[in-house]
Amino acid sequence: MRRSYQLVVAVLVVVILVREGEAEEGVVGSCENAAAAKAMGEGERRRRPHSVSITEFGAVGDGVTLNTKAFQNSIFYLNSFADKGGAKLFVPPGRWLTGSFDLISHLTLCLHHDAVILASPLLLPHVFQNSADWPITEPLPSYGQGRELPGPRHRSLIYGRNLTDIVITGDNGTIDGQGSIWWDWFENKTLNYTRPHLVEFINSTGIVISNLTFTNSPFWAIHPIYCSHVTVQNVRILAPPESPNTDGIDPDSCDNVCIEDCYISTGDDLVAIKSGWDEFGISYGRPSTNIEIRRLVGASGRGSGIAIGSEMSGGVSEVRAENIQFFNSRTGIRLKTSPGRGGYVRNIYVSDMKMVDVGTAIRFTSQFGEHPDEFYDPTALPLIERITIKDVVGVNIKLAGVLEGLEADTFLDICFFNITLNNITSNKSPWNCSYVQGFSDLVTPEICEPLKERIYPEHYSDCYHLSNHLWTSLSNQNGDVQLLSW
Ligand SMILES: *[C@@H]1O[C@H](CO)[C@@H](O)[C@H](O)[C@H]1NC(C)=O
Ligand SMILES: *[C@@H]1O[C@H](CO)[C@@H](O)[C@H](O)[C@H]1NC(C)=O
Ligand SMILES: *[C@@H]1O[C@H](CO)[C@@H](O)[C@H](O)[C@H]1NC(C)=O
Ligand SMILES: *[C@@H]1O[C@H](CO)[C@@H](O)[C@H](O)[C@H]1NC(C)=O
Ligand SMILES: *[C@@H]1O[C@H](CO)[C@@H](O)[C@H](O)[C@H]1NC(C)=O
Ligand SMILES: *[C@@H]1O[C@H](CO)[C@@H](O)[C@H](O)[C@H]1NC(C)=O
Ligand SMILES: *[C@@H]1O[C@H](CO)[C@@H](O)[C@H](O)[C@H]1NC(C)=O
Ligand SMILES: *[C@@H]1O[C@H](CO)[C@@H](O)[C@H](O)[C@H]1NC(C)=O
Ligand SMILES: *[C@@H]1O[C@H](CO)[C@@H](O)[C@H](O)[C@H]1NC(C)=O
Repeated sequence: MRRSYQLVVAVLVVVILVREGEAEEGVVGSCENAAAAKAMGEGERRRRPHSVSITEFGAVGDGVTLNTKAFQNSIFYLNSFADKGGAKLFVPPGRWLTGSFDLISHLTLCLHHDAVILASPLLLPHVFQNSADWPITEPLPSYGQGRELPGPRHRSLIYGRNLTDIVITGDNGTIDGQGSIWWDWFENKTLNYTRPHLVEFINSTGIVISNLTFTNSPFWAIHPIYCSHVTVQNVRILAPPESPNTDGIDPDSCDNVCIEDCYISTGDDLVAIKSGWDEFGISYGRPSTNIEIRRLVGASGRGSGIAIGSEMSGGVSEVRAENIQFFNSRTGIRLKTSPGRGGYVRNIYVSDMKMVDVGTAIRFTSQFGEHPDEFYDPTALPLIERITIKDVVGVNIKLAGVLEGLEADTFLDICFFNITLNNITSNKSPWNCSYVQGFSDLVTPEICEPLKERIYPEHYSDCYHLSNHLWTSLSNQNGDVQLLSW
C-alpha cells in the first residue's frame, strides 16, 4: 500500500516536472499587483499638496441644505491642481445632502469618520426632468440603452469619466443613496429612465475605493465600466434584502480589479462581473479579465454571492475568488447567460468558500433571458469553459447545484473538488445537471452523472488551475494527499 502510494507520487512528480517547462497557467494576482502599485504611488497620493474642505465652498452639513453646487465648485477649483500632484477634497463631520457630481483625475475624496454624503431624495417630480440633481446621461455603448428602460439613464451620485488616479476613502464615513424612493418608483413602474448607481467610473484607470460604508444605493452601488486597475478595499455595502437590484460591486468590461476585505449585504448580487449586453456587448467587445476577489463576506437576499453575467457578451476570463463566506442568500456562485449573449466565460477559479443558509450553492443558467431589444442574435451562443470550484463547505443548503447548459452549447471542463454541502433540505435531487461536461473528486452529496469522472490522476490538466494545487498537496506529504487516493 505504502509502496504503491510512493510510486504514484513519483510518477506525478515526473508529470509535474515535465509540465514545468510549459507556460505557467496564469491567474494573475490583481490584489498583489494593486498592493505593489499602491506602495509605489502611496507617497504621491498622500502628498496631494492641495487640500480643501467642502465647507470652504459654502456647504452646510445639516442634512437639509442641498450642496450639489458646493461639491461641483470645489472640484472645479481643484482641477487647477491636477498637474501639480493632485488635490484632496475633505468632507468633515455632518450630513451633506447633494445631487450628482463629477470627479476629476488626481483627486482624493476623503470623508471624516462621522461624515455622511446623502443623496438627494428626489422629493419633487421636476427633478426627473434632467435637473442638476440627477442628470440624464447617454446609454453605455456596450448596453445600447439603459439597463432597465430604453434610452438614456440617470447619472450616478458620484461620477467619473476618462479619469486617472482617483481615491475615495474615509475612515468608515458613509455614502448614503437614500434609495428607497427609487425602489418604490421602480416597483410601481413610474420611472422614465434607468436608476442611478452610487458610484460609477467610465473609461478610467487607477481607482482606489476604501474604508467607507455605502448604504441604500438606488441601483448597483459601485459600477466601474471600461476601467483598469481598480481596487475596492475594506468597504461595507448595505441595503435591505428585499431592495430591487441593489448589487454591491459590478466590474463591467474592466481589467485588473481587486476586491478585498469587503462586507456586503444587499438585495441582489454581492459582486457581479459583467461585460456588456447582447449585440451591443458583442460589438463593443471589451472583456472583463484579471479580477481577484478575496475575503468577501455577506448576504445577498434575492441574489448570489458572486455572479458572472448575465451581461457577459464581451467575455469574462481569469477570475480568482478565494476566502469567501456567504449566508442568507438565494445562491452562492452563479453564472448567468443566454442565447444572444455570445462572448465567453472561461478560466474561473473559486476556492475556500463557506456558506450557511443558502438556497442553491452553485447555479449555472444558460437561459437567463432579458434582452435589450428584439434585434439580438439567438444563434450567438456563449462559450462556457474551464471553471474550477474547490474547498467548499456549506450548511443548511437547499440544493447543491443546478447546472443547465444548452443542447447546442455544452458547458465544458467544469471541475468540482472537495465540496461538502450538509443539511440539504430540498427533497429534489441535490445536483441537477444537463449539457455540462467536467470532472470531480471528493464531492458530497454525490455529484451528478456528467461530472462523475475523476479529476485525479488523469484530468487535472483539463481543470483550470488544478495542476498547481496538486503540486501543493504533494509537496506537503502529511496525510492530505491520502484524501486524493485513486
Ligand atoms: C478614454 O479616456 C481617454 C483619456 O483618459 C481618452 O483619450 C479616450 O478617448 C477615452 N475613450 C473613450 C472611449 O471614451
Ligand atoms: C471622454 O472621452 C471621449 C472620447 O475622447 C469623449 O467623447 C468624451 O467627451 C470624454 N468625456 C469626458 C467627460 O471627458
Ligand atoms: C468601521 O465600522 C465597522 C462596523 O461598524 C467596525 O467593525 C470597524 O471596526 C470600523 N473601523 C474603523 C477603522 O473605525
Ligand atoms: C410610486 O412610488 C412613488 C414613490 O413612493 C410615489 O410617489 C408614487 O405615488 C407611486 N405611484 C404609484 C402609481 O403608485
Ligand atoms: C415620467 O415622465 C412623465 C412625463 O414627463 C412625468 O409626468 C412623470 O412624473 C415622470 N415620472 C417620474 C417618476 O418622474
Ligand atoms: C484604510 O484603513 C486601514 C485599516 O484601518 C488602514 O491601514 C489604511 O491606511 C486605510 N486606507 C486609507 C486610504 O485611508
Ligand atoms: C477540503 O477543504 C477544506 C476546507 O473546506 C480543507 O480544510 C481541506 O484541507 C480540503 N481537503 C483537501 C483534500 O484539499
Ligand atoms: C441540520 O438540520 C437539522 C434539522 O433541521 C438541525 O437540527 C441541525 O441543527 C442542522 N445542523 C446544522 C449544523 O445546522
Ligand atoms: C432538473 O431541473 C429540471 C428543470 O429545471 C426539472 O424539470 C427536473 O425535474 C429536475 N430534475 C430533478 C431530478 O430534480
